[in-house]
Amino acid sequence: METFKRHRRLRSSDYMRDLVRENHLSLDDLIYPMFVKEEGQTEEITSMPGIYQYTLPDFAKELDEVVALGIKAIILFGIPAHKDEEGTGAYNDEGIIQQATRLVKKNHPELLVVADTCMCEYTSHGHCGVIKHQDVDNDASLKLLAQTAVSQAKAGADIIAPSNAMDGFVLTIREALNEAGFSEVPIMSYAVKYASSFYGPFREAADSTPKFGNRKTYQMDPANSREAMRELVSDIEEGADMFIIKPSMAFLDVVNEAKHYTNAPIVCYNVSGEYSMVKAAAQNGWIDEKRVIEETLVGMKRAGADLIITYFAKDVANMIHGGQQ
Ligand code: PBG
Repeated sequence: METFKRHRRLRSSDYMRDLVRENHLSLDDLIYPMFVKEEGQTEEITSMPGIYQYTLPDFAKELDEVVALGIKAIILFGIPAHKDEEGTGAYNDEGIIQQATRLVKKNHPELLVVADTCMCEYTSHGHCGVIKHQDVDNDASLKLLAQTAVSQAKAGADIIAPSNAMDGFVLTIREALNEAGFSEVPIMSYAVKYASSFYGPFREAADSTPKFGNRKTYQMDPANSREAMRELVSDIEEGADMFIIKPSMAFLDVVNEAKHYTNAPIVCYNVSGEYSMVKAAAQNGWIDEKRVIEETLVGMKRAGADLIITYFAKDVANMIHGGQQ
């Protein structure tokens, strides 16, 4: 009689390993972030190879490719022609995101549009709301955020994803959507959003670096996980339908813990800095890019993510279709 366990029995061949694999990557679970700009030319984001700020006509072409690859959902970020103190571009019915959303719904009605509901791309100071006494004013910002969400829903957004990290943003947006006749539009809340250095490349991409200070009075301290559960619980109570945890790679314990608090879908945001690190190492030939992408994303599934917002969505699609990356 053997006295030890033979774990290798279930690792003996590709088919055997496939048979016992516990987690899988599927295009069904991925949301692809895209940047759309109101004026100027389409440009690649220096720190995010393969990711572009698109003009509307180029965005339309890119959408055809995204849909052909089998991607089913995108999240949109806008780069407006003009910014101001009150971020009016965010809630203007003719704003860049509203135009882009209408374009998606016209060309590819089935493609799900997630609207990132925030103001940092639209404010001249780069903060996520309106400023009073050198800080973001919570309740004044909520009003504008609700207007933004309604304007995005009117343009055809399928999911509203508030990300400005103000207290009460889910409840305020839910009430405003209901009142405007959008009670069927779900809210994917950025419930747990850390004040992270991993957003650096995104701020280049979205031109949204704060002109003074930082976001630490509204985004969370990366050292905390019990605080994350408090944030999650209040968004559950306020009626959010799905919950984002962001960033991902350094926060998978938080993703796992969140599963004990809700049965609703948990979304990992695999953020810009996480993308840039992999791309940079791959460009240097230091890692096997495809395998690192797979390991990173399946790790998020293993931790408990139901969905993943990732700049790698096209890479994954190409990997699944066995095509070129
Ligand atoms: C808007 C927003 C940010 C990201 C998503 N929505 C930037 C921020 O909070 O500074 C970051 C996404 C990424 O880094 O990929 N507030």
